[in-house]
Amino acid sequence: MGILTDTYTLNTGADIPKIGFGTWQIPNGDEAYNATAFALKSGYRHIDTARVYGNEESVGKAIADSGIAREEIFLTTKLPAEEKTYEGALAKFETSLATLGVEYVDLYLIHAPWPWADRGGDYTKGNIQAWKALEEIYKSGRAKAIGVSNFSVNDLQAILDNGTVVPAANQIRFFIGSTQEDVTKFSQNKGILVEAYSPLATGRILNNPDVKKIAEKYDKTVAQVSIRYTLQRDTVSLPKSTHEEYILQNAAVDFEIDAEDMAFLDGLKDTEA
Ligand code: A2P
Repeated sequence: MGILTDTYTLNTGADIPKIGFGTWQIPNGDEAYNATAFALKSGYRHIDTARVYGNEESVGKAIADSGIAREEIFLTTKLPAEEKTYEGALAKFETSLATLGVEYVDLYLIHAPWPWADRGGDYTKGNIQAWKALEEIYKSGRAKAIGVSNFSVNDLQAILDNGTVVPAANQIRFFIGSTQEDVTKFSQNKGILVEAYSPLATGRILNNPDVKKIAEKYDKTVAQVSIRYTLQRDTVSLPKSTHEEYILQNAAVDFEIDAEDMAFLDGLKDTEA
């Protein structure tokens, strides 16, 4: 079994492949369909999308057409960050399932603690309402696990204090030089799996000279070292690409960065060009 089928165990007991195919910024239609289809053909078994990416339709179609049994694929989608009501969250989930054309998702996340237009605003009450809806969905079996994304320690604490289900995952922006240590450690200590989105800093880490030095040492690319780093930090890695060459390269990360080099990478700052 290769790295694409290596798994972590969620606090629900379910397995989640350590590498997921990220689909943020891949337009619906041929691009999302072809990229997802190629990822599945190449052995990826974990696909990460969101209602707001606008590509659930093509992602779902690629899954359906893949011929791979539904239960062999781990599928995540997300509740739009603007939706902070109980009823609204239930309705948005139905829309996602219908658009994806699936009976269930493996993980359903609150996309962010605040609407994108009011980043940092306090929506604690709304998050608790939305979480109640996710708990209902979880109990119905149509989301096998539920979690959050972009949540801070305070945002998580409010869910832990007011909810009955501990989030299974917190998907955050996480890459070499930007690891949000406070929320990462808090999540991991509570058994909440951290998922790293933008493990390549949306491409902005690729020219970093320090990471390049490590990549040369291991005879790997900067992308591969960056993905491997996130895995060795016990996070799910969600690299995104529309190029077949990169989709393959990003899964060829079956090597080990030694402790000294991990410590060096841990210490890097301002890695985004
Ligand atoms: P593209 O989508 O054109 O293939 P992140 O995963 O951090 O969001 O980064 C995604 C960005 O990095 C995209 O612009 C993507 O390009 C690019 N990218 C993904 N994998 C690689 C790779 N192996 N080598 C170089 N660029 C990559």
